[in-house]
Amino acid sequence: MNRNDVSRRNFVGGAAAALGTLAIAPEVLAARELHAAQRGIRRIPGGPPMLRALQSRVDEYDALAHLSSNENPFGPSQKTLEAMTYAFKYSMRYGYPDNDVQQRIADAHGVDREHLLLGAGSGEILEVVGLTYLGHGKKVIGVEPSYGSVYSHATGIDADNVLLPLEPDHRQNVQRMVDATNRNYRDVGFVYVCNPNNPTGVTMTAAEIEYLLDNIPEDVPVLIDEAYHHFVEDPEYEESIKYALEGRKVIIARTFSKLYGMAAMRIGFAIAPADMIQEMRAYSTGSVNALARWGAVAGMQDTQAQKAILDHNRKWREQTIADLAGLGYESIPSQTNFFMVNLRQPVAPIRQAFRERKVAVGRDFPPMLDHLRVSIGTEEEMGRFMNAFEDILKTSVMSSQRG
Ligand SMILES: Cc1ncc(COP(=O)(O)O)c(C=O)c1O
Repeated sequence: MNRNDVSRRNFVGGAAAALGTLAIAPEVLAARELHAAQRGIRRIPGGPPMLRALQSRVDEYDALAHLSSNENPFGPSQKTLEAMTYAFKYSMRYGYPDNDVQQRIADAHGVDREHLLLGAGSGEILEVVGLTYLGHGKKVIGVEPSYGSVYSHATGIDADNVLLPLEPDHRQNVQRMVDATNRNYRDVGFVYVCNPNNPTGVTMTAAEIEYLLDNIPEDVPVLIDEAYHHFVEDPEYEESIKYALEGRKVIIARTFSKLYGMAAMRIGFAIAPADMIQEMRAYSTGSVNALARWGAVAGMQDTQAQKAILDHNRKWREQTIADLAGLGYESIPSQTNFFMVNLRQPVAPIRQAFRERKVAVGRDFPPMLDHLRVSIGTEEEMGRFMNAFEDILKTSVMSSQRG
């Protein structure tokens, strides 16, 4: 047996050991148990010892309550893990069977393959849209705060952003978006709509999206980022794929990083009119790995696991918002797996205090510098967040009274 055999066996063995733990549970595990099993894999079994400095960084990371990046705290479902473990056997191949991931995504969304572009996360899709539609001096029209990567990518490729403020109730003002688009018409590369919006968790309604599309020139592309659409329950919300199918210049960006718990696997996709997909394909790498492809198909099919995540998310989001209200802190009602709480003081030092208590919470989102974004974690993580919150905010109130 050569070294590769050994290390491959150990690696797959590690995943299989986790699956073994899962096998003792009923067919579909409660998400909580699944999470515990996954967190049990802390070191590569039999692998080389890690440098001490690296090990301590890994331990520090693992010890954190991760409430800063809107991830799914339970990770991939059991079935998704099984599919990814199966796909290890293609690790050394090109042109391997990929469980027809593109056709299956297309079928699941009622579109043809020609409407679909796969990306290494929806982050790649957002960049591909930028590269395709933002020449020099072109502009993105969008609100601030929103998913800032789109704007920083635009700046990085010598394009520009026209950033509009949110309303006092944190909604995106559709009339302002229409006006800014029409005013800048010749220079607009695309309009960016994050729906629901990150970091606020607030949606634009179906009627608002329709109004936007009906009142800007037809040849202006609109990128609608639906990374969190699975979590939305507001009946006035609607997914926007239908516009892409009608031939409107609409690109929908989707990800497997959130509901499906596959952020580190890197897989997402765009749905758009076929000619736009053709234009964008020239800028995409298509580098989506075998595990991500197989895992994505399994994740889409595992509706029981999806429901467990959505139930958990709703319960802990509402519970935490209520607990914070009990302490006198208001949050913005959210349709996502995160929410913002108004601390009525700059969040930067508070965030540091959370970090010292091994809780990672969201970064600064100018101009909402008094709002802290909190992702929904496990029950245990939300408990740690509330304990830290009470501890820190009590101290900060006392020191501001002293000062
Ligand atoms: C609104 C939004 N879009 C896109 C992404 C990128 O996700 P990914 O590249 O993991 O698919 C994120 C990640 O947090 C996000 O919040």
